[in-house]
Amino acid sequence: MLIDIITLFPEMFTGVFGESIIKRAVDKNILEIRFTQLRDFAFDKHKHVDDSPFGGGAGMVLKPEPVYRAVRDVLAKSDENLSRKVIIPDPSGAVFTQAKAKELAALDQIVFVCGHYEGFDARIYDLADDLISIGDYVLTGGELPAMVIVDAVARMLPDVLGSAESAETDSFFDGMLGFPQYTRPRDFEGKLVPEVLLSGNHAEIKKWRAAQALNLTRSRRPDLIRAE
Ligand code: ADE
Repeated sequence: MLIDIITLFPEMFTGVFGESIIKRAVDKNILEIRFTQLRDFAFDKHKHVDDSPFGGGAGMVLKPEPVYRAVRDVLAKSDENLSRKVIIPDPSGAVFTQAKAKELAALDQIVFVCGHYEGFDARIYDLADDLISIGDYVLTGGELPAMVIVDAVARMLPDVLGSAESAETDSFFDGMLGFPQYTRPRDFEGKLVPEVLLSGNHAEIKKWRAAQALNLTRSRRPDLIRAE
């Protein structure tokens, strides 16, 4: 999968994409991540990408021309036969879910347009196939949401997770929270590992885990059950 990120702050991604599962996916050539510096597409000599809003008001607004030029350049640089989407992380979008991560993982290419400042000139939204929010709060820009989305999508790609990290035991894999896990020691300050997990009876363990997942979901996230 090819990920393009159009941003004013590519350095923000270095730590997150340079470690752990995303790094491994890149090293294994399952994932290619390219950055495009939005400022390179500013058209005036001062390289302005933002301007004050028509109608007045505080803050600056991202200008349409550099963003259109950057997106067109990125799309022109890659194969138009790829299945691809331009995504703008934005608090006005549909809230990101595991189902959406799975859907995006089936694409060949995702182009993220990360905004900063007070917002986008409204005409920029016409470029987007999807607006995605990562929750009902406002962040400083689209970079953190893009990292969150790439992380969740990358781990759904075939061969990214080892068998020891199977996505099948993830919370939300089947629309519910995951079951509780335990490891050594069996007795930690008087808190015991449930007997059934030590029994070696795999049928019983499977039943117990399914019941625990349901109980956890009912008590912590009843909205997930109602949503089904
Ligand atoms: N940009 C600013 N806040 C955001 C959010 N909550 N989700 C996605 N993009 C954003």
